[in-house]
Amino acid sequence: MDAVIEACTAALARPGTVLALTGAGVSAESGVPTFRGKEGHWTIGAEEYHPQELATHDAFSRMPWDVWAWYLYRRGLCHEAEPNPAHRALVEWDAALGDRFALVTQNVDGLHRRAGSPDARLHEIHGDIDLMRCARDCTPERFEIPPIVPATPKGVPVAEAVRAHLHCPKCGAMARPHVLWFDESYDEPRYHLDTVRRLAAGATLVVIAGTSAKTNLPWQVVALAAQNGAAIVDINVEPNPFGEIAAESAGAIRAPAGEALPALVRALT
Ligand code: OAD
Repeated sequence: MDAVIEACTAALARPGTVLALTGAGVSAESGVPTFRGKEGHWTIGAEEYHPQELATHDAFSRMPWDVWAWYLYRRGLCHEAEPNPAHRALVEWDAALGDRFALVTQNVDGLHRRAGSPDARLHEIHGDIDLMRCARDCTPERFEIPPIVPATPKGVPVAEAVRAHLHCPKCGAMARPHVLWFDESYDEPRYHLDTVRRLAAGATLVVIAGTSAKTNLPWQVVALAAQNGAAIVDINVEPNPFGEIAAESAGAIRAPAGEALPALVRALT
């Protein structure tokens, strides 16, 4: 930890943005199942699905209400969860660094916002499980999923009365969850692609926490930041490709985010 703190202190002394890049592991200690962990599986009829099969436009086109049931179930888990010390540490860092700080998250659970991270510096690159948008793209606008829509318990189909609320308020077509699916691409209006690339290219320090490094934009963030000479830190309970990059840079910390992030932020502020 001492070597990581030293490298981060040197990076902070240089000009540039401080980026935190988070994944599902940051919310694991809040009880939200990680994406690729065993608890993420889902059964429809006799079939067991992996999240990677359900989080696709293709699955939504074939079985929209089954995909909605899965998201409404996950939305319920997110609502039951509370932010943990990792989320709160990033709020403290934001308050200490102000405009110099940016938080890029793959999480759709809303816990960073509920912890107090301000919208202006929070970039949700995979969407927000509380929002929906027109499945026919009549407008890029996002709408809150009406609070009257309840959590769907596991194995229970979405009731007809509930389905009636999951339509685009503008054109009446079916709505879809506002999340990026595996067979879709990042863009600026919905997923902050250009903003995040720009922030990464101007970063002096990137602290990564709780991600398995399986998605594209986080890789771009790390590559662009490294090109700028940024120091890279990785916090994860498991070895992962970002950990290997960090080990060659400011360092990899093998510890739960709820312990390591508060300790790091405390040492640097
Ligand atoms: P994953 O589920 O792939 O990975 C979670 C990571 O968190 C793993 O590397 C774990 O070792 C680590 N981890 C678990 N508990 C932890 C803890 N307490 N502290 C620190 N690390 C911990 O989740 P992501 O990498 O976030 O996107 O997955 C990225 C994206 O994959 C998701 O956002 C999802 C999917 O594409 C969409 O649905 C659009």
